[in-house]
Amino acid sequence: MRDLIAKGFLKYIICLLGLAIFLSGGVVPSFADKCRNTNNDFVRSDDGDDDDDDDDDGSHHTGVNCLTSGCHTGGEHRFTIGGTIYSNINGTEARAGAQITVTGSNNQRTVLTSDQLGNFYSSQSIPAPYTITASYLGREVKMPSTAITGGCNDNSCHVVGYGAAGRVFITTIDQDLTGTITEASGNAGISYNGTIKAIFDAKCISCHKAGGTQSGVPLTTYDEVAIPRLVTAGSKDSLLLKKLDKQSSIGTMWPNLRSAREYNQIKDWIVLHHAQEDSTSGGVVSGATIQLTQGGQVKYSTTTSQAGAFVLKSVMAGAYNVRVSKKGYKTYTQPYQMNQLNVPPLDIAIKKK
Ligand code: HEC
Repeated sequence: MRDLIAKGFLKYIICLLGLAIFLSGGVVPSFADKCRNTNNDFVRSDDGDDDDDDDDDGSHHTGVNCLTSGCHTGGEHRFTIGGTIYSNINGTEARAGAQITVTGSNNQRTVLTSDQLGNFYSSQSIPAPYTITASYLGREVKMPSTAITGGCNDNSCHVVGYGAAGRVFITTIDQDLTGTITEASGNAGISYNGTIKAIFDAKCISCHKAGGTQSGVPLTTYDEVAIPRLVTAGSKDSLLLKKLDKQSSIGTMWPNLRSAREYNQIKDWIVLHHAQEDSTSGGVVSGATIQLTQGGQVKYSTTTSQAGAFVLKSVMAGAYNVRVSKKGYKTYTQPYQMNQLNVPPLDIAIKKK
């Protein structure tokens, strides 16, 4: 019993100290308010307060910055960081029991838990800038950038990709990821951008560009190369080809090229592929395997239909790597962020080996 009284007294002293520090900041809270919140950051205090605010129901004002609106800058409900988390984008249902991890600039992590109203808050001082991650049942919503203030309505908190800016939510209704796999352009024939430009850049433009010895005949862009005097689509009599042909009497540019393979590519480009600028897609790829992996583990997997389409059912939001593979094609990988809502189709082009 004596112990308890001693503890109570200690708490009283701490409150006094806290009050002193707080007073030096120029704000005068009621003594009771300050004490009640000092040791109880995460749990809402009861409504027996005697201040005039109208938020005794523990609710919040949607869209209002809790720290600058005057609601939580002082008094009983003063806090340094806070917000509300929902279970749907409309904000009609609170997400209770979500874990909010706040990492301060000193790398210290503070974990807050949202209450029955979805609210989370702390009066602890956490050095800014900080990053915030909200998680619930393995689902995570990360704040896209660091925050400088702890207000619940600061733009940086609200992840656009996860729904509307202005509300953070974690849903447990997972979305389907659909898309199509096609063959990358470049496989359907030789094009200027796919093959030819690189040859010219390496072997021709040192002279054939502004400032070069043959600046009058620049060969740096498609529009400069594919002019009627140099190139006639479909014709092996094009001047460009003749200048590169070692058998031709005017083949004076052959020594600059010196590659039968590249000569044949340029010839095929003009004669077979009509000097096309870009090649068209090779069409859809059926029977390709598409997987979403996390930490090297396959989480979702399916194969594409005859039409090259796929559906990955009920994919949990989060960061993945997408992997597309099929025999005869180069395996394709890229990071992929699965959203909670408005998931756009994922269209991927893979290259033939
Ligand atoms: C070292 C400088 C140099 C390089 C490199 C060079 N050229 Fe030339 N090119 C010339 C000169 C000089 C002429 C003009 C004399 C001639 O036609 O032989 C010319 C002429 C041409 C012509 C004829 C232009 C016309 O209007 O008659 C074509 C086509 C051409 N070059 C293409 C190329 C191609 C393609 C390459 C790369 C494989 C290339 N050249 C690399 C210097 C160069």
